[in-house]
Amino acid sequence: MRKFAITIVALALLSQTAGCDSMRTKAADKQMESKIEKLLAKMTLEEKVGQMTQVTLEVVAGQTTEDGWLKLDKKKLHDAIVNHHVGSILNCGGQARSVDNWHQIITQIQELATKQTRLGIPIIYGIDAIHGANYTLGATIFPQHIAMAATGNVDLVRTEGEITALEVRASGIPWNFSPVLGLGRNPIWPRLWETFGEDAYIASVMGAAYVEGQQGSDISQPTKVAACMKHYLGYSVPLSGKDRTPAYIPERQLRQYFLKPFAAAVEAGVETVMANSSEINGIPVHSSRFLLVDLLRGELDFDGFVVSDWADIDNLYKREMVAKDQRQAVKMAVMAGIDMSMVPYDYSFYDHLVDLVNSGEVSMSRIDQAVADILRVKFRLGLIENPYPNKQLKEQFATAASRQVNLQAAREAMTLLKNENNVLPLGKNTNILVTGPTANKLSVLNGGWTIIWQGDNEALYPQEKSTILEAIQDKAGAGRVEYIEAVTFDDELDISGAVTAAGRADVIVACLGEPTYCETPGNIDDLTLSPPQIRLVQELAATGKPIVMVLVEGRPRVIRTIVGHAGAILMAYLPGMEGGQAVADVLFGDANPSGKLPITYPKYSGWYVCYDHKKSEETAPNKYDPQWPFGHGLSYTTFEYNNLQLDKNQLSPDHTLTVTVSISNTGSRRGGEIVQLYLSDIVATVTPPVKSLKRFSKVYLKPGETQTVEFKLGRKDFEFIGRDNKPVVEPGQFKISIGGLTETFELR
Ligand code: BGC
Repeated sequence: MRKFAITIVALALLSQTAGCDSMRTKAADKQMESKIEKLLAKMTLEEKVGQMTQVTLEVVAGQTTEDGWLKLDKKKLHDAIVNHHVGSILNCGGQARSVDNWHQIITQIQELATKQTRLGIPIIYGIDAIHGANYTLGATIFPQHIAMAATGNVDLVRTEGEITALEVRASGIPWNFSPVLGLGRNPIWPRLWETFGEDAYIASVMGAAYVEGQQGSDISQPTKVAACMKHYLGYSVPLSGKDRTPAYIPERQLRQYFLKPFAAAVEAGVETVMANSSEINGIPVHSSRFLLVDLLRGELDFDGFVVSDWADIDNLYKREMVAKDQRQAVKMAVMAGIDMSMVPYDYSFYDHLVDLVNSGEVSMSRIDQAVADILRVKFRLGLIENPYPNKQLKEQFATAASRQVNLQAAREAMTLLKNENNVLPLGKNTNILVTGPTANKLSVLNGGWTIIWQGDNEALYPQEKSTILEAIQDKAGAGRVEYIEAVTFDDELDISGAVTAAGRADVIVACLGEPTYCETPGNIDDLTLSPPQIRLVQELAATGKPIVMVLVEGRPRVIRTIVGHAGAILMAYLPGMEGGQAVADVLFGDANPSGKLPITYPKYSGWYVCYDHKKSEETAPNKYDPQWPFGHGLSYTTFEYNNLQLDKNQLSPDHTLTVTVSISNTGSRRGGEIVQLYLSDIVATVTPPVKSLKRFSKVYLKPGETQTVEFKLGRKDFEFIGRDNKPVVEPGQFKISIGGLTETFELR
């Protein structure tokens, strides 16, 4: 079975990252290096290869008791850790565990590893805690990263990383396979919602903040974990849109876009990386020494270790067909730079690699380098001194304060796409028909990687959390709210019942979107919203009652044919465990929406062009015609931008350009606004994008309040990847645009 993140001087980020120097404390720690060397000198080949082997928890799992506790199988555990010297175990063995069950599991594993093996090296346990500690029962489960990107609030992302790390570590686990740093530039790809959206700058800043939040400045601190950036590199744009199928990315684009968030995370000190499961330009990444060594270690200066993705060494011979058998696949991957194999079910990798070294086909020095990099992370984590769960952390697990941060994140993610005639916010004395397949489920708010891999077992969700329907009922009073599901994602249930009920209502809240999915099972053939949901809205529209559409979806499903029927449309993304509450807060005006799309929302299923497209993609007969553009998002108040000023109109690339703009809240409610600075290079030797986001800053203004935001730009911002695939800055005219205002300057 499959396994089971006034003047405001806005973040003056002169480099592409939010990283600070203290994060990069990796200057060789001589004492630690000598400990690693001594340990390596004592290790047998088998012990070394064991460190490079990772198996899934199911390999050592025994019975699950009636109250849901997983017990480990002592014999299997012994076989893994003592006989095969396994150095790492992953995931949850099917479903989320309680903190206490995790403590018991991790304690048993570490006792065996430290007391019954010759050298006593602890296991590094890894888990997919990608939106909170989603494999620990009762954890703080945040909005998925696409929604966190929509908040425009970098501090919130950092805090999400901090809370997640604390709750993962409180479960006794020191290593998290997060964040996803691929760019969501192909909306049909089923993992779009795991990304921070289509823009390289947002993904860089938010990814780095998430890494910093998880790791802090010292991962040996009891509330920190080692982060794992993934999936390096180019995984997120399969040409077919289907998960784990080929991507074709020229080196210029790779460097201009896809590499940037990974470079920012390395700069922020990320400890580990997971390889892209698939291939780019015909080369499976698990076999690419260019990507895994030359680029990652040579250019980015990464000094952690590289873990394979799930069974992807095997996939070199089973799926990608670049190796003839398993043995060749193991050799290929290890020689390309994979340090640890997420095997995950057996000891085949271990057996082959021992044999490959014994026969001289893989050198001991390659093994020593991989093992040293793995041991270094174990030392840095403080595992060598103390590999056991810290029981006291349980007191800080899922606190009311963490829940509040989570609610704030979900509220700030909410992106109001349309609001004609102020349909929203709703008055509390409104009679409401709530309908649609995402109205009354917690699973759809959370998406994959929640409690179980696919996130789709509604029965396992914490019943004290509110669905959208329940949260609306809490606000309006159950007597004013009628609920008719009307359609599932695939079938009509009772559209005519909903139409009749609409006659009794003042407003219709149609909760639409996607079922819960994760990875390859989320593949679809058509980005259009499912036909029953389209029909539901079309038939409800005939009643003439105002329709508010709430979109609960991990990717932007095409809704062109029903957009005109809705007075208001709210994009909720996958807003997490407080998502129902957040949606209701926004619908009734208890929270003012302030999210902005971190992706382009397409109008057509066969047409997808990112915001930073080329001029030819918008010049007649082509036109740039998204449903809503990247960066779009409305508020219940109004903002006015004034006084866009540059401190110079001519500068050399090594000068700093200071840009200021003032924003006023001209409406009657407090509101948040993400101020976005776009740069356009007018003429360049490589066709320039029409614009690129270079900075953003979120401000919160009271009615009548004005703030001035300041941004600083420098060489890195004027740079692009030139014809020779190297960064270049070219003189010429540039344009800055913020909030509809533009100014130009000349680079000399
Ligand atoms: C996914 C990774 C994940 C790993 C371990 C793979 O299938 O692609 O993102 O970390 O499984 O669960």
